[in-house]
Amino acid sequence: MSAEPDGDDRLARLNTREEPHVEADEAAAMPMLLHSVGLFREILGDLVRAIRPTGIAEIGGEGGLLTQELIAQADELDASVTCIDPAPSAALTGLESSTRLTLVREYSPAAIDVLPPCQVVVVDGDHSYVVVREETEKLLAAADAAGEQSLLVFHDVCFPCGRRDYYYGPDVLDPADVHPYAFDTGMSVFGHDPVVGRGMRSRGTMGIADQAGGERNGVLTGVEDAIADRDDLVLRVIPAIFGLGFVYPRSAPWAAEADRILEPLDRSPLVARLERNRLALYSRVLELQDELAEQARTADRERAAWEARLARASGDDLAARLGALEAVGGPASADDGPVSEGVAGRPASAGELR
Ligand SMILES: C[S@@+](CC[C@H](N)C(=O)[O-])C[C@H]1O[C@@H](n2cnc3c(N)ncnc32)[C@H](O)[C@@H]1O
Repeated sequence: MSAEPDGDDRLARLNTREEPHVEADEAAAMPMLLHSVGLFREILGDLVRAIRPTGIAEIGGEGGLLTQELIAQADELDASVTCIDPAPSAALTGLESSTRLTLVREYSPAAIDVLPPCQVVVVDGDHSYVVVREETEKLLAAADAAGEQSLLVFHDVCFPCGRRDYYYGPDVLDPADVHPYAFDTGMSVFGHDPVVGRGMRSRGTMGIADQAGGERNGVLTGVEDAIADRDDLVLRVIPAIFGLGFVYPRSAPWAAEADRILEPLDRSPLVARLERNRLALYSRVLELQDELAEQARTADRERAAWEARLARASGDDLAARLGALEAVGGPASADDGPVSEGVAGRPASAGELR
């Protein structure tokens, strides 16, 4: 039986006899670290088609990668898209030319009050317990008040944010809700604590909580606590690309279709294994990059020290040393060769040129 693609663009392309480089080329063209919810486009598209929302919302738009997918899906259904982001990027602002999209330049959860009725909401703004919990509670209350059954989608419910707060804007939160954090640390899978200047880091855009776990910490903990008393809701998690969570009413007319789409992926061991391998590989890439950068810094420091020593050595000093070398049968002139030369043109040892 042939595994050649049948032309269905919903299926991943495999290498063919005629085009044996498709898989490598697609891999090479990808960014090193995939992170957008837009990568779940087929799954979200199927869910959106099953739900047929009049309104779709995204909390946290960043570069607009997901927003543009949502606009395309809304086009099919004549739905609206509202994106809440207090600091929209130029790419996201550029999407405003679509009449489907309304950008709300405010902080969630407060900005949830201005949303039109939305039956699909992707929550991907601040990655902290307190914000996600309040967002979830507000969105569920809004759906209940409108008599609607909505799908809530949560990004970053797995490592590293699932059980550890990441703060975009800790200053706008009540200090009592903020765990000790730092902006200059990063996380790796090869340790349990954030390390300054190492691992997956946000280069100053996100504060990372010093500790993982416990109460009131992390995105998944926020979702779980918000729905703790809601037996009418189901929570499913696809453990890929930092984890995507789905919360929806079991009684929704589209719930059976959502189950059909999501059940095979919910906590799939194979998907989790691939994600953990991706995280380990990326953590290792960062370690190697950091080691190389450290080696380059050390080499620069050594070079600068030698240049300073050379600059300090006066012409008289050098002349006296050359004279001494001549007296013991060393080089008579510069043409006879360098005074000393180490690996890669650097002095071989500190003693020789002092
Ligand atoms: C991880 S990015 C979103 C990525 C995007 N959803 C995607 O999948 O391509 C998070 C975004 O949330 C925004 N953000 C941070 N805090 C927020 C808040 N309290 N309310 C809304 N957006 C917030 C940030 O400005 C950033 O653009």
